[in-house]
Amino acid sequence: MPQFDHFAAIASLYACVTYSKTSVMREIARLPVKGSLLDVGGGTGRVSLALRDLVDEVVIADVSFGMLRQSPRSTLKPVCGGSESLPFADSSFERVIMVDALHHVLNHAESAREMFRVLKPGGLLIIEEPDIRTFGVKLIALAEKLLLMRSHFLTPDQIMKLFTNGEKQIHAEDGTAWVVVGK
Ligand SMILES: C[S@@+](CC[C@H](N)C(=O)[O-])C[C@H]1O[C@@H](n2cnc3c(N)ncnc32)[C@H](O)[C@@H]1O
Repeated sequence: MPQFDHFAAIASLYACVTYSKTSVMREIARLPVKGSLLDVGGGTGRVSLALRDLVDEVVIADVSFGMLRQSPRSTLKPVCGGSESLPFADSSFERVIMVDALHHVLNHAESAREMFRVLKPGGLLIIEEPDIRTFGVKLIALAEKLLLMRSHFLTPDQIMKLFTNGEKQIHAEDGTAWVVVGK
């Protein structure tokens, strides 16, 4: 049965929310860098836009056409597709990021494998997630369940364990966790 696209319904609101963690992401992702960045589950491109000047090219991959439609096509390259099967060749991107989207994907392990596959050797993959170990995020998780959003939050340790290869690190502050995987 086709799933209701919750994000298409709120896409225009989402596009108005500024990404507030640019400086942390910039430091963790070691930006600027020469080359391409892939923003998986990038939605309206609000995170990509904040990082756009720090790389040569940004590509957004998202399953929600409604979210992608709100992204500025002249500066970001939107591609409609799921993280479980990314339509890119192996080792295509210097940086791969996924912000606030891992808990929404259908299959965590396949998404992790795909994001690592399209990352270039020497590149960095950064997954930013609400930190489910904190009380506030537990409440958000409950609210998303009540809204039938099929969210499934993982702890930073569980996210790290999705990756069998690569160097891994966790950074956490103020209810947000970043898992960084180097290839
Ligand atoms: C909470 S929004 C975050 C969007 C963006 N990263 C941001 O921070 O503004 C989650 C996004 O993940 C996307 N998404 C959900 N499942 C996905 C999947 N399997 N593959 C790619 N994108 C997915 C949704 O369509 C939505 O745009």
